[in-house]
Amino acid sequence: MKKKILILAGGISKERLISLDTGLQVAKELKKNGYKVKISEPDSNLSKNINQFKPNIIFNALHGQFGEDGYIQTILEGFKIPYTHSGVIASSLAMDKAISKKIFIKNKINTPKYIKYSYGENNFNLIKNIEKKLKFPVVLKPINEGSSVNVFICTKKNISRVLSSMKIYAEIMIEEFIGGREIQVAIMGNKKLGAIELKPKRKFYDYEAKYSVNAKTKHIIPVKLPKNKLNEVLNLSFKAHKIIGCKGVTRSDFKFYKNKFYLLEINTQPGMTKLSLVPEIAKYRGISFIKLIEWILKDATTKK
Ligand SMILES: Nc1ncnc2c1ncn2[C@@H]1O[C@H](COP(=O)(O)OP(=O)(O)O)[C@@H](O)[C@H]1O
Ligand SMILES: [Mg+2]
Repeated sequence: MKKKILILAGGISKERLISLDTGLQVAKELKKNGYKVKISEPDSNLSKNINQFKPNIIFNALHGQFGEDGYIQTILEGFKIPYTHSGVIASSLAMDKAISKKIFIKNKINTPKYIKYSYGENNFNLIKNIEKKLKFPVVLKPINEGSSVNVFICTKKNISRVLSSMKIYAEIMIEEFIGGREIQVAIMGNKKLGAIELKPKRKFYDYEAKYSVNAKTKHIIPVKLPKNKLNEVLNLSFKAHKIIGCKGVTRSDFKFYKNKFYLLEINTQPGMTKLSLVPEIAKYRGISFIKLIEWILKDATTKK
């Protein structure tokens, strides 16, 4: 008999709409293939939904805060029902870009230089510090968001204005800007699934470039890299996946500049619409959308 799958989607993060899209598309594909499916928000009805529907597996289609950062994973542990993707600790480590960068650096994975900025710090000192340690332009980003939400490239001229627009975060991260190419890699358990290159028409791979077809970001697969460089980036992603302790499928985002890879982050809940990057890489490797989903479900039933 086909299994009952509860899909967790929506949530309260800034990536709510992307998550709903992922949830709906995964649900559609599963239903088409004979599964019983229910979609639930991770809200106060979750417990009731789980108790009534009695799913065999929970497919976590959430992104961002409270869905990708260990919070919902902690709640799911309590239900004693297998859930997809990474567990509590790997999710929280990967979601915190400052902590995961420290782990990358310790393990000799190259990542852009950065400093942390807490609100209330003097902007004049900050600018001096940037000039000493990073040089302009720099990239300002929240420590725990996704989908390029509130990521800005800043010059010395506009940094104060951008900083004041980011006051909702107590702390942010300021990184050196790395030019060059944008390459992302998917890992599927012990398999180095593959890489894809993104060529945004916009200034960088921002929210628009990621989700609006009008932005016309070009997806290039297979990526044009010499074999040794392709292996290098696949191995770096695999290493990041393992040292963070991830499970299931992950996607690591890199910049490639002057023959050197810079790991920006590892995503434990990569987008899973039919048009998302991991499904695209899987398809290139001959793994259909349903086969990918079924692999993720099966993987959920093995120990975290
Ligand atoms: N240090 C950087 N140098 C150049 N571009 C960057 C840098 N950091 C981020 N970006 C751009 O912003 C995008 C989103 O940044 P990322 O760190 O992956 O955060 P998110 O979790 O929002 O995806 C990247 O894909 C890249 O285009
Ligand atoms: Mg990213």
